Amino acid sequence: MKFILVLLFCIILYTDTLAKKQKLRDEIEKENVDDDKKDELDLIADDEAEEKEQKNEVIDEEEELKTPKVESEKKHPCAGHYCGAGRICALNDQDEPICDCVPQCPVETDERRKVCSNHNETWSSDCEVYRVRCLCNKDREECLKKKYNHVHVNYYGICREIPDCTKEEMGDFPRRMREWLFAVMQELARRNELDKYYMKLEEEAEQDLSLKWVNAIVWKFCDLDAHPEDRAVSRHELFPIRAPLLAMEHCIAPFLDSCDLDSDHIITLVEWGTCLGLKEDEIEDKCKSVRKKQEEKGK
Ligand SMILES: *[C@@H]1O[C@H](CO)[C@@H](O)[C@H](O)[C@H]1NC(C)=O
Repeated sequence: MKFILVLLFCIILYTDTLAKKQKLRDEIEKENVDDDKKDELDLIADDEAEEKEQKNEVIDEEEELKTPKVESEKKHPCAGHYCGAGRICALNDQDEPICDCVPQCPVETDERRKVCSNHNETWSSDCEVYRVRCLCNKDREECLKKKYNHVHVNYYGICREIPDCTKEEMGDFPRRMREWLFAVMQELARRNELDKYYMKLEEEAEQDLSLKWVNAIVWKFCDLDAHPEDRAVSRHELFPIRAPLLAMEHCIAPFLDSCDLDSDHIITLVEWGTCLGLKEDEIEDKCKSVRKKQEEKGK
């Protein structure tokens, strides 16, 4: 039993690193690129927004479309012109930078770059997924199917049969997830990759057993709630823990769904803490931004 836990932890830690590396890689790939400024999270957020709009809720997305201004005029117009997933900066007839769909994705031979889409179709890389989405969004002929207007990565790796999460597994999941969150937090602290403020929470968790789970759980909530930071974790903000884990951890999707008690597609800190097994009086908003505000008020 212990062995399995340790193994699971290693795998999870590994995927976490893998996901980070991938992100880094993607960021590097994106560097010289783009305008619609949309990365994977934004795209998933778009789909979410569209769903909401259908329910007559208007969401202001303009903010995300703004591009950073380029300072130096001598620079290539595309320098600093960020283009989102599946897009690349190109010049139009007036020599102005625009975001076009990437003409071709790097040829991927590594099986591990394969991704499974929300349509349960395996693609050779996330680039291919977002390239075809771009083509469809721009109404190009190369858009293979209309449904690809909303294609996104569901999880990393080839599509597979994901077994149902049994009641027993589900019952044990919050405990395992708490262990995992604490272990990840601990590991990040060890590597000095944790924000100073959260480093303190980690130390607290090490020293005070009663805070071990609380601090790890609250830290993860703060960490996920950054896109936008609004004290609520929406479905697209769950992407960073969902997509890398889904293929290996078949309970993660049903578990995360179960956290959303009122099914409003948003997970509040109370919902998050509750589904991870915290008691009501243990759940306290300790996110950095909140603490800062409290400190300022206190002065
Ligand atoms: C997704 O595709 C895989 C591989 O083709 C298949 O085994 C699995 O049953 C599919 N899952 C769903 C939900 O259709």
